Amino acid sequence: MLRTQVKTQVRIHVKLTLKRLNASYSAPKLSLKDINPHVIEAKYAVRGTIPTKAEELKLQLQEDPSSVAFDKIIFSNIGNPQQLNQKPITFYRKVLSILQDPSLLDTLKSKDCPASFKQQYPQDIIDRAERMLKDIGSSVGAYSASQGIRGFRNTVAEFITKRDGYKADPNDIYLTGGASAAVNYVLQILCNGPKTGVLIPIPQYPLYTATLALNNSHAVPYYLKESEGWSLDCNELIKAIKDKTAEGVAVNCLVVINPGNPTGAVLSKEKMIEIVNVAKEHGLVIISDEVYQENVYHGEFISMRKVLKELQAKNGSEYDNIQLVSLHSTSKGVSGECGQRGGYMEILGFSDELRAIFTKLCSISLCSVVTGQALVDLMCKPPVAGESSFALDHKERLDIFNALKQRSLQLWETFNKLEGIECQKPEGAMYLFPKLDLSENVIAIAKAKGLQPDEFYCLELLENTGICTVPGSGFGQYPGTWHLRTTFLPPGTEWISKWEEFHNEFMTKYK
Ligand SMILES: Cc1ncc(COP(=O)(O)O)c(C=O)c1O
Repeated sequence: MLRTQVKTQVRIHVKLTLKRLNASYSAPKLSLKDINPHVIEAKYAVRGTIPTKAEELKLQLQEDPSSVAFDKIIFSNIGNPQQLNQKPITFYRKVLSILQDPSLLDTLKSKDCPASFKQQYPQDIIDRAERMLKDIGSSVGAYSASQGIRGFRNTVAEFITKRDGYKADPNDIYLTGGASAAVNYVLQILCNGPKTGVLIPIPQYPLYTATLALNNSHAVPYYLKESEGWSLDCNELIKAIKDKTAEGVAVNCLVVINPGNPTGAVLSKEKMIEIVNVAKEHGLVIISDEVYQENVYHGEFISMRKVLKELQAKNGSEYDNIQLVSLHSTSKGVSGECGQRGGYMEILGFSDELRAIFTKLCSISLCSVVTGQALVDLMCKPPVAGESSFALDHKERLDIFNALKQRSLQLWETFNKLEGIECQKPEGAMYLFPKLDLSENVIAIAKAKGLQPDEFYCLELLENTGICTVPGSGFGQYPGTWHLRTTFLPPGTEWISKWEEFHNEFMTKYK
């Protein structure tokens, strides 16, 4: 009999005996032994020990500013732009304000509406809000269709068609609570127990390994080549598949993050063709995580979908069995609306029975947040030239994009000036993942403290400067190498200078 069953029976027995004796019985609280072990096993470093410590220090700073060595915490552990003062896009928020309070439309149309108020809501904002309210049908406070509001999915399909030059179908699109919800859906469907393996790039965004752990399946790592700008080597992929297959694991899915998190690398078209061919030969579903598609500073973003469509157009039915899930989000790009949880997945090439499973899974959580769905519509169809909001909207987008690009270069240049740091040039996304050359002394001290060497560096950085980063060990890295991930979102350059000063002192102290 299982230990928990025995425990339950003992509890019932004790309870009944005490009842007979007329004594009161209080059952013990649950312990970790009583809960789902896969939840215990799952790890998510982006909100791990260093960010938790940063939250504690933030409180300490409020209560006793003299007790810490800095005057603010700089949260560069997470791609959360608005936490770091990035301004929301005005067009989004104005339309959303009407969706939240449709009576604003009556106010704006009334004769008594002050001109200064009317000016804040140009005609294209009113038109868009009216169209979206019609699509919603009732209210943003009502559940929508589980796959997402049809009119918004039409907008997404138009956006994809325009981006790739190949027609998209709104029936293939699911509006989700950020890309995270989509990852959860797909992996829940594909993970068929401990014998299932999913290819994950290393370093990776830890949502993937955490979700695989929750679903009791294997992450099959394939290492990206740091010395070649974190490029993907398909021989690594094939080797990983062969090794795992020999162990009896059925590898059924390949995750590609493009542009990469934490690496910032952007995939070339040639590389994507190779990836599709590996998927074709080995029967792998491709998850193409493209949440940073607007954040490309050098080179060009090409969607996996476009590459697949081109291959299908040129090669008849040869590529018809490829199953692709593409992800996008309102959290990144220049939108940065992380807290509003908007995203979509487009599923291509799946059989009707699998498509029905996707739809059923979405229906179990009823629908994604309707205002998040609305943001997906707004992200996919910003104002165009000739519309009244265009000039401001265009400027806001450009300013955010240029500031990100400039800061990525500035931080990268600083890192490469420093002794004991080597950093690949970021082509996209919101992060740098520099390699730390840490001395034997650092490694020994970290070990004595029960920390990984890169964790020790990040902790010292936090405690001395207030800069919160994530150790490379949280993303995966070649054994024996040490990294950290930082965003380049915090504005200004003061924090970069503080980091530089800290680093030089750290390297001297722990030579
Ligand atoms: C590569 C990648 N995929 C997915 C996500 C999840 O984003 P969302 O906020 O859309 O759930 C993130 C968030 O940082 C990410 O970096």
